[in-house]
Amino acid sequence: MKSEILEALRETDGYVSGQDLCNKFGVSRTAVWKAIKQLKEAGYEIEAVPNKGYHIVSAPDLMNKVELESIRNTTWAGQEIYYYDVTDSTNIRAKELAEEGHPSGTLVVADHQESGRGRRGRSWDSPSGTGIFMTLLLKPEMNPNHASMLTLVAAMAVARAISKCADTEALIKWPNDIVIGGKKICGILTEMSAQFDFINHIVIGIGINVHNEHFPEEIAETASSILLQTGKRIRRAELIEQILEQFEHYYAIFMETEDLSGLVKEYNSILVNMNKSVRVLDPKEPFEGKAMGITKKGELIVDTWESRKMVSSGEVS
Ligand code: BTN
Repeated sequence: MKSEILEALRETDGYVSGQDLCNKFGVSRTAVWKAIKQLKEAGYEIEAVPNKGYHIVSAPDLMNKVELESIRNTTWAGQEIYYYDVTDSTNIRAKELAEEGHPSGTLVVADHQESGRGRRGRSWDSPSGTGIFMTLLLKPEMNPNHASMLTLVAAMAVARAISKCADTEALIKWPNDIVIGGKKICGILTEMSAQFDFINHIVIGIGINVHNEHFPEEIAETASSILLQTGKRIRRAELIEQILEQFEHYYAIFMETEDLSGLVKEYNSILVNMNKSVRVLDPKEPFEGKAMGITKKGELIVDTWESRKMVSSGEVS
């Protein structure tokens, strides 16, 4: 009910009368009044003018279920939302929800993670009030061998969403880090549960440094936040909504072919490594070359002095 009232208030630039809200949702004046009171207590600035009605002046930087539902504009992503002020890891929560039978598109969001997890067994710093910690649950009917490409699809969605919301140029560092001005502001951890030819579920965990002003010493050199890189304080819920919209768009293109053939050109246009020297941190033997973009399978094409190599896993610096 609070989400619906917020949505109704946002739909108009002017005022919505209490009576209109009662009629629209089939509830009493007291119920509307109570919902407005709770929204104000949560930090929404709502003006009430006699004979005119209610008008929303400003919204706090919340990303809970009420707020996300009130701005939701997607078809399947985020149709079920689970929000936590604190949790261990949104990827862990999403996997539990998957096993309980929740549908593809279920979204888990947290304001703070106590055991945020990064790639390669690293941890992910997740202080409250500063970032977005979200996981999208997918249950795609596709070949499990193709699933790793979804992490590149997610990277495209996040980069586009950040660029749009913060009016900046967010780029992808292969395969799926997002950088602004060369500094990492987002990481993605994709995990899958599958059988030989069947995917039980995939969770795509996205961590974004939004308002952070300080970082732990170990990552202070390489990490930054949207605020530090752009000077802008964007609303986290709006960025989440934008990510889901962009993801639906790119995912539909991806699923047509179950590979990145329809996305390669666009991915390469926002690839920070494109035509640049890269050092591939291959666990067997690191090497250097020039990055020439990705293949339709998501491999990084690297030209060395001797040959052209397709890098399918690992990191580049
Ligand atoms: C990386 O190491 O670059 C990936 C970091 C992924 C962090 C996100 S935050 C939301 C989700 N929950 C986790 O525990 N990890 C991912």
